[in-house]
Amino acid sequence: MATIVTLSSSPSASSRTDAVLGHVERRLRARGHDVERVTVRDLPAEALLRADAADPRIAAVVASITAADGVVVTTPVYKAAYTGLLKALLDLLPQYALRGKTVLPVATGGSPAHVLAVDYALRPVLVSLGAEHVTQGWFVLASEVTVFAEDAGVLLAESAARNLHLVTESFLTHLARHRSELVTETDDDVVLRVSPGDDAAAPLLEDLVVEYGTRYGLSTPNTQLTEVPVTDFEAPDGAFLVILRAGQTIAGGAIRRHDDETAEVKRVWTHAQFRRQGLARRVLLELERAAAGLGYKRIHLTTGPRQPEARALYLAAGYLPAFDLHADPESIGPHAFDKELPAGTRHVAFAAEARTAETTVPTERAAAYRDWGAA
Ligand SMILES: Cc1cc2nc3c(=O)[nH]c(=O)nc-3n(C[C@H](O)[C@H](O)[C@H](O)COP(=O)(O)O)c2cc1C
Repeated sequence: MATIVTLSSSPSASSRTDAVLGHVERRLRARGHDVERVTVRDLPAEALLRADAADPRIAAVVASITAADGVVVTTPVYKAAYTGLLKALLDLLPQYALRGKTVLPVATGGSPAHVLAVDYALRPVLVSLGAEHVTQGWFVLASEVTVFAEDAGVLLAESAARNLHLVTESFLTHLARHRSELVTETDDDVVLRVSPGDDAAAPLLEDLVVEYGTRYGLSTPNTQLTEVPVTDFEAPDGAFLVILRAGQTIAGGAIRRHDDETAEVKRVWTHAQFRRQGLARRVLLELERAAAGLGYKRIHLTTGPRQPEARALYLAAGYLPAFDLHADPESIGPHAFDKELPAGTRHVAFAAEARTAETTVPTERAAAYRDWGAA
C-alpha cells in the first residue's frame, strides 16, 4: 500500500476539477492505497499569501507531501496555466520536495487550445521540485464533466474516463516500481527497501540469472529466478532490500513468507566488484531485522551445492544446517539452513559456530541441480 497525497487547487467550491479528482481517488483507494486530499482553498489564506511555512496547517500539509510516495496534482487551467492557488502552495514546499516521488498531473480546462498546459506549464514546475517521475498526465475538457448538485455524482464523457483510467494505471505501475524506503544509511552506503520491480533491484536480479545459469548450466525456474513470484518479496509478508553506494546497487537480498512464523531468505547477492567487504553479511543482518520487524520468529533458507561462499556465509552468521555438512555437496539436494531470531528485539546476534544436523536430504545428483532453490 502506498501513501498518496492529492492536491485540489481550484478556488471554486463546486469544482469540476475536484469531481475528476474524486474519480481518480476512488480508483486509487480501490487498489488499496492510502489517499489524503489537500484542498488548497481550505488552507489559511493569510498564511498562503504571506508564504508562512510555520503556520501549523501549512506545515502539516508540507509534512504530508514530503512523506507521500506519490502525489496527484490537479488544477483547472487559468490563463493558460495552473492556478495561483496551486502555485502559492508549491512555493511553500522545500526545493526538492517531490524528489523520489511519482507524480500524476491532471487538469481541466474550458478550451482544447490549452490542452498543452499540463505539459508546458505544470510539468516543468513539478520537475523543478525534484520530481523525477512525472507520469503521463491528462487534460479533461470542462464540457466532458457533468457534476450533479449536492454531491449527487459526476458523469464523465467516455473518452475522458478511458484516458483517466489509463494515466492512473500508469501512475500506479510507476509508483510500484519506484517506491523505496530508507532502511538505514552510513557515510558511504544507503540500505533501501524497494519494490522488486524497482530499477535499483534490476542489477541484482540480472546478475543472479547469469551467476546461476553459469554455475548450474541448466535453465530452470531456479536459475531464471521464476520459481517464486517476485510479489512474494513485497509488503506485507516480504521485503526486498538493496545497498546502494554512490547510487550504484552493490548488494541486496529479499525475504518472503515461508510459514506463519518463518521468513525465507532469497536472492542474497553482492556485485562482483564489491565482494569480500562483508556486504552479504550486512544484507543478511538487515534481512533478519526486516523479518523481525514483520513479526517473524525464525529464518529458513536454502542454497545450492555450487555456492560455497553462500554456505560459508550462513554458517558464519549462525544458521544451522539441516543437512550433513560432510556429505558431498552435489549429492544432497538443496542445502537448507534455519535460524531462530532473538525474541522481541531488532538486535540480531550471530552465533560463531554451526552444528551439523542429523537430517540429511538424500537425493539424486541431477535433482540437486534442478531443485536447489537458491537463496
Ligand atoms: C479565471 C479563469 C480563467 C480561465 N482560463 C482558462 C484558460 O486560459 N484556458 C482554458 O482552457 N480554460 C480556462 N478557464 C476555464 C476553466 O479552466 C474550466 O472551466 C475548468 O474546468 C474550471 O475548473 P473548476 O470548476 O475546477 O474551477 C478559466 C476559468 C476561469 C474562472
